[in-house]
Amino acid sequence: MSKREVRNLLVGLDIGTSKVVCVVGEILPDGRIEVVGEGSAPSRGLKKGVVVNIDATVQSIRRAVENAEQMAGCRAQSVYVGVSGSHIKSFNSTGVVPVRNREVNERDVESVIDAARAIAIPADQKILHVVPQEFVVDGQDGIHEPVGMSGVRLEAHVHMVTGSLSAAQNIQKCVESCGLRVDKLILQHLASSHAVLMPDERDLGVCMVDIGGGTSDIAIFKGGSVRHTAVLPIAGDQVTNDISVAFRTPVPYAEEIKIQFGCALPEFAASDEMIEVKSVGEMPSRTLSRHTLAEVIKPRYDELFRFIRKELHRSDFYDVIASGIVLTGGSAQMPGVRELAEAVFELPVRIGVPQNIEGLKDVVRNPVYSTAVGLLLYGIQDQPKLVSRGGDSGGPGYLLNRVSSWFKGNF
Ligand SMILES: Nc1ncnc2c1ncn2[C@@H]1O[C@H](COP(=O)(O)OP(=O)(O)OP(=O)(O)O)[C@@H](O)[C@H]1O
Ligand SMILES: [Mg+2]
Repeated sequence: MSKREVRNLLVGLDIGTSKVVCVVGEILPDGRIEVVGEGSAPSRGLKKGVVVNIDATVQSIRRAVENAEQMAGCRAQSVYVGVSGSHIKSFNSTGVVPVRNREVNERDVESVIDAARAIAIPADQKILHVVPQEFVVDGQDGIHEPVGMSGVRLEAHVHMVTGSLSAAQNIQKCVESCGLRVDKLILQHLASSHAVLMPDERDLGVCMVDIGGGTSDIAIFKGGSVRHTAVLPIAGDQVTNDISVAFRTPVPYAEEIKIQFGCALPEFAASDEMIEVKSVGEMPSRTLSRHTLAEVIKPRYDELFRFIRKELHRSDFYDVIASGIVLTGGSAQMPGVRELAEAVFELPVRIGVPQNIEGLKDVVRNPVYSTAVGLLLYGIQDQPKLVSRGGDSGGPGYLLNRVSSWFKGNF
């Protein structure tokens, strides 16, 4: 394969519990991004979003990246990588600084963000994101673009995300073992939310849940900014395990029947539609109805939605998510999941698929790709030169870009 270097190339790498996906995006002259390559491989080395087997993870990454490179006809050098898992902690913080020249400039914004992030975090944690929510200038709140405003006191409200240092190092190690550099580690749900949420949903208030194999990742937005993030260790793998135990069938087969015949609402599944279920060991196969399968699947999804509802109440955001809930991730593809979620949350629910992306639409317009596509959309805002207004790294144009990208949650 002849490999060529493409300068305006971005690569997103979603190292999930079920699969590793690599997407290659080419930045078009008008700033949009076109997916030109996609590669997937089953993930063998992760548990609940965390690397537990380096060699197996490296192999999966290598396969996914090679497949994507082959399709795109290019060579990946660095990647935006998603990170998740129960080790992720998030909280809101505030910083205040005096405005030096009575007019807020980029340096003041940098200083106030630094002040907000200057809080003690445990030595085994690493700061992954400091996302500005809003600025307050002399008591006036709700400001998203403070640069140029007159005032003497600048306050910043930020959402901070930290993760286990060793978990982050292990991901980095796996990626580097494949000969790639890590551009940035990005919280998977922030990435997914970039791909599936509409600006008006973020403004009005929305809760996005990416239900994967090992974890369900929650991100709440209001007023255009992220307000709360959380990770729950319940997702599709538990549903598969329930099927495996209930029908005494091997896990790979339970996964197969879940995807082929599963339904989250028994009333949607006919009792006379029969499925053959292989048994473990030498036991003969049995036949069961789709309705019975749905009766096994429903309680786990129901439990998950009740946990999410509890998390929403705990975070005090239940009453502000007027747009409702957006479900994405592989496990959001289960038929009946939207209706079940609407019944539990008593809010409108929709299934989110990646938006704002060109190219392999048929491939990537699928909830499984939300994180990978989101990493590309996140990455494009991280390219200071692309939207440069006359400055390179460190110059005034660069700072302007940094400031504007902060508001897109990209810091
Ligand atoms: N059509 C389908 N119906 C129901 N469930 C499905 C379907 N397709 C995939 N799944 C489930 O989705 C899960 C995988 O989702 P996804 O690919 O988003 O996970 P992941 O990103 O690898 O994991 P995580 O984000 O938890 O680390 C698996 O549990 C799988 O069984
Ligand atoms: Mg995922």
